[in-house]
Amino acid sequence: MNSKIVFCLLAIFQLASANLDKKYSNYIDDIFAKLTPVETVKTLSSSFKGFEHTGQLSLTQGGSTLEGYQMHQNALKVLKAYDTVLKSEFDDSTKNLMATYYEVPEYYCPKHNYNYYKCDAKYPYRNYDGSCNNLYVPWWGKRDTPYERIISPEYQDKINSPRSIGSDYKPLPNAREVAMKIHSARRTFPETTQFLTFFGQHVNHDLVLTSRAAYKDGEEKKCACGTGDSDCFNIPIPYGDYYNKDQKCFPFTRSSAAGKNFDCKFSYREQLNMVTHWLDLSNIYGSSVHTAKKLRSFEYGLLKTSVNPVDSNDDLPMVNPNKPCENSGMAAQCYMTGDVRGNDNHYLTIFTRVFVREHNRIATELYKINYGWNDERLFQEARKINIAEYQHVLYYEFLPVLLGGYAMNKWGLVPESYNKYFDGYDRYTNPQVKNAFATAAARYGHVMINKFHYVYDNQYNLVDNYTTDFTIFSHSYYGDFSLRGAMLGTSYYFTPAINEYLNNYLFQGLSKEWKRLSLGALNIQRGRDHGLAGYNKYRAWCGLNYAYSFNELTNIPEAVRNELAYLYASVDDIDLFTGIMSEYAVDDGAVGATAACILGDGFHDWRYGDRFWYENRDDVVGFSLEQIKEIKKTTLSRLVCDNTDIDFIQVNPLLEASPSYNSLTGCNDLPYVDFSAWKERYNYE
Ligand code: HEM
Repeated sequence: MNSKIVFCLLAIFQLASANLDKKYSNYIDDIFAKLTPVETVKTLSSSFKGFEHTGQLSLTQGGSTLEGYQMHQNALKVLKAYDTVLKSEFDDSTKNLMATYYEVPEYYCPKHNYNYYKCDAKYPYRNYDGSCNNLYVPWWGKRDTPYERIISPEYQDKINSPRSIGSDYKPLPNAREVAMKIHSARRTFPETTQFLTFFGQHVNHDLVLTSRAAYKDGEEKKCACGTGDSDCFNIPIPYGDYYNKDQKCFPFTRSSAAGKNFDCKFSYREQLNMVTHWLDLSNIYGSSVHTAKKLRSFEYGLLKTSVNPVDSNDDLPMVNPNKPCENSGMAAQCYMTGDVRGNDNHYLTIFTRVFVREHNRIATELYKINYGWNDERLFQEARKINIAEYQHVLYYEFLPVLLGGYAMNKWGLVPESYNKYFDGYDRYTNPQVKNAFATAAARYGHVMINKFHYVYDNQYNLVDNYTTDFTIFSHSYYGDFSLRGAMLGTSYYFTPAINEYLNNYLFQGLSKEWKRLSLGALNIQRGRDHGLAGYNKYRAWCGLNYAYSFNELTNIPEAVRNELAYLYASVDDIDLFTGIMSEYAVDDGAVGATAACILGDGFHDWRYGDRFWYENRDDVVGFSLEQIKEIKKTTLSRLVCDNTDIDFIQVNPLLEASPSYNSLTGCNDLPYVDFSAWKERYNYE
């Protein structure tokens, strides 16, 4: 049939069905009428324990925002109604029609709050919550909005329940069993530094924080072994797990449910991101005005700081200035940061510290040349430059080492020349983080964490050598000592192995409700909770061969292939996290081809879809070419030099120092940003 005729027929069909027959919409209205309505929670009560906290929220990084809590309750009702339709006696085409054209009642759908956002196109700075970046779709990139999908989910019941049955109609292998077989520690060969791994964690925390099913006060739901709560998806301890003979399960709280895309149609369960979907240092500034206010000093454009008692340098502000970090307890309420996971481990904190100090350094430099600027102007300009420098080092230094040349080219991430604007901004590029990015690919760092974490003093004497477990939620004011350790200590080479402290002893001794967890098992279970399709489909989407047998997974070492074949009934059943981490790293990058592809896809969108991208030509929100040239002098080593007491450093801290290709250099010999490009002409001097 000629394509024009097909198009006309489709248009006629759509016109006919756009108004769903009253009898069908009444049928669904009735379903909704029978559901107990959701109680609306409107205000942030003082007892709210959820995401608005600026200290660590919970051990397992869980909890929810007020909006997330509300959305979860509503989405569960919509899923229930949808499920009733799917189980009804109507034929399949009628059910499809109903799902496509029925408009979910406004009460259950946040569309109206999001689609009619008023944006000020003349406002030169980013909104803290990520809204109004795209002036045509203001909610794109906003916090508390759902993820996007690369490949449609494969929930067990098609819309909601976790993927749990394999191709042989038997249960998928227990997540912990996969973690023990595939992700158990083995000897690996270090190449890149811990600086690379934890800068990666810093970037991921800027981009994703998945909301979890929570109580009304925002605290993550507790899932006792044996509970029948449908918000729980606990991992039973499999036979042969001798580490965990003393507990029955790993408790696992499902991620909050949300409607897909706010289109108020029936859809599968989507998950929610509680932070902005942009590369905007939301982990430094917060994803809301509320958080930003707590972090600002409101003087001279500065962020709050405290004085480090060991080296007397500026340090991050404390949650409770009267309570030393060493005694800050289980879920360490030590440093106050823009992201609730800021205290996760000491290597992550070094990046928060560097970017907070860099903000204050920039604000101070700007004040010297524009002393007419008030606090707000200094703060926002410093924030804008800080984000620009961060975007620059991320794309020009970090991504090439992480992804390798093929993915950099494929996703259009190759650097612009120093003298040019970037002309790729595209308002149709949807920046919503992909579920597969958050739930699988961006977790690449979990396999790269060296079990030893070093700490060096400013004479490069080894002060401490911790194992990973001691560095989690423990803070000892080591500050720049840890940074030296991250640059000197190597990361693990990319293999599926997760070090034993994370895979077997995660958070041991830190909780009253359970003994320990397994990071490998959590990652796998989270993928199933989100209904992620199997690895094989993603690998094919990325241009690798679709494997018809385990032997066709040729970029996975044979020994790992055999283990996968032992565990999974079919090559199609392999969990995305496990499959991705099993691949050989690409020749010139730090991760495998499928990880590089899913990561590259995301980094494409955050460059092309960001109206505030630092290289964009834009009279309202952009920089001048002269300013861009200065920003491009920023390097990771420069950021370290300017914001720590380190005065010589390897040129590229992502890689081990080497006299032949990555030599140690004095900070004075590195280029630096000259802020005179920001001097306003009307200044009185
Ligand atoms: C000592 C270091 C680390 C610890 C203890 C840790 C622990 C965790 C835990 C417990 C989760 C939640 C798992 C779940 O239930 O789904 C998680 C999620 C995650 N981790 Fe890590 N992690 C560490 C380092 C890293 C690194 C180095 C990276 C990447 C380079 C990374 C990337 C991620 C990402 C992207 C998520 C998903 C976040 C979300 O969706 O909310 N992590 N991590």
